[in-house]
Amino acid sequence: MVKKKLRVNTNQKSYDILIGNNLINKAGNFLKNYIKNQRVFIITNKTIHKLYYASLEKSLTKKNIKTYKIIIGDGENQKNIKTINSICSILLNYKINRDDTLIAFGGGVIGDIVGFSASITLRGVNFIQIPTTLLAQVDSSVGGKTGINTQVGKNLIGTFFQPNLVLADVSLLRSLSHREFLAGYAEVIKYGLIMDKPFFNWLVKNESRINRHEVKYIIEIVFRSCKNKAKIVNKDENEKNIRALLNFGHTFGHAIESLNNYKKSIIHGEAVSIGILMAVELSLLEGKIKKVIEEKVRAHFHQMKLKSSIPNKLKSKISVSKFMNAMQSDKKVKDNNLNLILLKEVGNAIIVDNFSTSNLRKVLKKHIE
Ligand code: NAD
Ligand code: GLY
Repeated sequence: MVKKKLRVNTNQKSYDILIGNNLINKAGNFLKNYIKNQRVFIITNKTIHKLYYASLEKSLTKKNIKTYKIIIGDGENQKNIKTINSICSILLNYKINRDDTLIAFGGGVIGDIVGFSASITLRGVNFIQIPTTLLAQVDSSVGGKTGINTQVGKNLIGTFFQPNLVLADVSLLRSLSHREFLAGYAEVIKYGLIMDKPFFNWLVKNESRINRHEVKYIIEIVFRSCKNKAKIVNKDENEKNIRALLNFGHTFGHAIESLNNYKKSIIHGEAVSIGILMAVELSLLEGKIKKVIEEKVRAHFHQMKLKSSIPNKLKSKISVSKFMNAMQSDKKVKDNNLNLILLKEVGNAIIVDNFSTSNLRKVLKKHIE
């Protein structure tokens, strides 16, 4: 049943986010109002295909929606131009037209790949997000950022292309490992820290229920996260200003992922989680927050057992200067100037470009040496 509904209003498109439990078996009922010619291309990976494809296909077929499937490999390393080329070629060989719809059925990797493919195929076809990880339900499926990685850095090629619908079924998260759950949770804390103090306090208060993945609480987490994200995206769809706040911890995190060559030993949300802690530590050194705020954040990290340090294997291969170089490849660099998001209070973040390099070095040194 759909328990919560949100509307995102961007210049490009307005669309709904439907959130609930056990929605996949009724996906046909929800999707039929959002697709034009009853023909969809479901793009997923082999893991999700095995778990949920049959349920999705059955419910769509029941509503006379014709389905085609494209299955790609699993993992961040799929976010490359070769995958995009192959998806677009398959779609064109099927003679896709602008009334057809792509469905991104998977986590953030699938969402970013399918969104990008949808934005460039025939200069733009409809697409629907059915996110299957916590990270994708609370963050990547909403807001229209699409992209792939290159040798130079992460997500450096991509588009802003909004979906036509987001269908977030929390029952799909039951098969997610706790490790992946926590990776998504890093993005949840982010909203609390940058813009929603009551939400952060609610998360702290309900830690044990969240850790047990209680459905009611997970629905609330997805709802409040998407509400915060929509609020920002509605005001700044193309990241000209405040959307940059959503990158809190990400410049550090992206550097970690890139230095680790996007290997599975550190997944995206874990890198973000370490990155958030680094950003909080820098906020403290920069005098933006008091020690008590840093302690509050650290205590919640500890409570939830969130990733807070770089694994030794990577530490032994990197240095502070290598890390700083990797940070410079991020999109947040303007005129050679690195912009970072720092905290002023729980629920209040700012974009800063005049922090002390020596303080940044201190934070990195602590984590690396
Ligand atoms: P992911 O898509 O790689 O999924 C993580 C793993 O979980 C994969 O192995 C996947 O097959 C598996 N999986 C997915 N759903 C499952 C389920 N229900 N049960 C069991 N296993 C399941 O990773 P992610 O954390 O979802 O997304 C990370 C990606 O999202 C990164 O590439 C990041 O750059 C991107 N991202 C994009 C945005 C955006 O706004 N576009 C925002 C945040 C992150
Ligand atoms: N995940 C950051 C953004 O969507 O802007």
